[in-house]
Amino acid sequence: QGARPLSGRHLLVTSGPTHEPIDPVRYLANRSSGKQGHAIAAAAAAAGARVTLISGPVVLADPPGVTVVRVETAREMLAAVEAALPADIAVFAAAVADWRPATLGDEKIKKGPDGPPPLRLTENPDILATIAHRSEGRPPLVVGFAAETTDVIAHARAKIARKGCDLIVANDVSTATGVMGGDRNTVQLIGRDGSLETWPTLAKDEVARRLVTRLAELASIAH
Ligand code: C5P
Repeated sequence: QGARPLSGRHLLVTSGPTHEPIDPVRYLANRSSGKQGHAIAAAAAAAGARVTLISGPVVLADPPGVTVVRVETAREMLAAVEAALPADIAVFAAAVADWRPATLGDEKIKKGPDGPPPLRLTENPDILATIAHRSEGRPPLVVGFAAETTDVIAHARAKIARKGCDLIVANDVSTATGVMGGDRNTVQLIGRDGSLETWPTLAKDEVARRLVTRLAELASIAH
């Protein structure tokens, strides 16, 4: 225990965006640097956990002491998460694309006289909700993120109920906050029991360390 409160635990983290191909050269993506998710993986490893980091395409280095699984699409991310189970704690920090192009051509779509092609979208799996609603093999502690631009807390409370997770880390990502791609983050922790904690603006590494400390406390209760 002490400095390594997660020793003996397996923690799974998703991080980064997903890329959903439109054709061989184009894709649809969410804006995400992966900094917060990767920092959580690093902090969990430093706290003694065995960590599996499932990451979409990012430019970040692999955190030391972490098993990294690289994926591109939401469907690949879900498959990698399921393959990495069982886990004691699962943190879903990835900015997963909600939709993907419905049909994928083998060839690059050409510009032509008919104007832009129609882009039909289809729903991607919700990885967090899928794992949190599993009847067997659900990690005892499931944590989601909520990147909102308005009514952060109200949306986070609704999200806990809808997604079935135990805790939501909510952050305001309106452009003025500079959270996207930046090194600092202002988060609120919203628990399934209605608890609410607001943290000061901190470096993403520090947010990660505090979150890992909190997860270790909650995991020792959940077990
Ligand atoms: O509903 P929304 O996308 O805002 O929820 C965000 C949370 O759900 C994050 O924890 C994110 O990683 C997760 N999520 C997911 N799969 C999706 C969409 C979101 O795991 N397809």
